[in-house]
Amino acid sequence: MELNIALIKGDGIGPEIVESAVAVLEKTGARTGHTFHFTEYLAGGCAIDATGVPLPQETVDGCLASDSVLLGAVGGPKWDTLPGDIRPEKALLGLRSKLGLFTNLRPAKLYPALAGKCPLRADIVEQGFDLLMVRELTGGIYFGERGRREGPNGPEAYDTEAYSVMEIERIAHVAMAAAQKRRGSVISVDKANVLESSRLWRETVHRIAEQYEGVTVTDMLVDNTAQQLIRNPSQFDVIVTTNMFGDILSDEASQITGSIGMLPSASLGEGSRGMYEPIHGSAPRLTGTGRANPIATILSGAMMLRYSFNLGAEADIIEKAVDTALNDGCRTADLAPAGTEHTLNCTEMTKEILARI
Ligand code: IPM
Ligand code: MG
Repeated sequence: MELNIALIKGDGIGPEIVESAVAVLEKTGARTGHTFHFTEYLAGGCAIDATGVPLPQETVDGCLASDSVLLGAVGGPKWDTLPGDIRPEKALLGLRSKLGLFTNLRPAKLYPALAGKCPLRADIVEQGFDLLMVRELTGGIYFGERGRREGPNGPEAYDTEAYSVMEIERIAHVAMAAAQKRRGSVISVDKANVLESSRLWRETVHRIAEQYEGVTVTDMLVDNTAQQLIRNPSQFDVIVTTNMFGDILSDEASQITGSIGMLPSASLGEGSRGMYEPIHGSAPRLTGTGRANPIATILSGAMMLRYSFNLGAEADIIEKAVDTALNDGCRTADLAPAGTEHTLNCTEMTKEILARI
């Protein structure tokens, strides 16, 4: 296959980790007879510096013309004081909504080689875990009505959580279909004891579940889910939840894998085009130090092969190379036990993974 990939390196460690993923994709393509053409576009802080806006139209058009998008990370202290509508993060939200990417898949699993980095109790670590967070990505409080106004106690600000039946149905379908291919269990996370939008969420998810044989759906309140992820993460297979709850819970899930530097993500819509990015941010403090961990971005590249291009065997090659490198003891600083003297930098870890492809 010949495929066009839009590259958004972004800010901070974005450029280094994206270069690592590109090298891995190129080598995998060369090995398996596929050609990837990469075109770079600006988004985030670097786009603000170059063009005055976080998401230039040229970037949106380029992504819409591509087969898929690989993104590093956006944002940094330099742009933190800008008003909300021209912050770097606005580029991410704009891309998600303009590309129609309503699904966000965030797998989190414990690699046996990294068990020592898991902050949980030994008996919990022993159980292991392998879960898939299905986060709704273009609705809810992120995109609801917001503003400032005069309230009864003076000036106030508001953000609105709203979900339509259609939005809940389509993400529920994704979660059920994913569970059918996994262990058949979906935990739907909401706050139905308080929020009306959660009550609609709950009834809609159950209605859709009836169409999926062999899938069981259990409701869990978000506060309890936050506990359960620490208490017994092995109980989770697929978690389906709203934009905001998914944002928070996926960071929590990343910590119990040992490092946020390990977690990839796929953002998908109706078609095959997706946007793939690590769940971590631009890590301004690591920029230029070589201490960035490229694995989350490399694994995001693997997810692109699997979900957008239907190249599952090729994705396996990349995932296996990461696995083997970890089993062989390759460690970036975030993956090494505290006080380890010699760790691999971003380029060295990439080389180790390349050598195993
Ligand atoms: C994420 C990030 C983004 C989000 C920010 C940067 C807007 O935290 O992808 O999880 O909240 O969705
Ligand atoms: Mg987040």
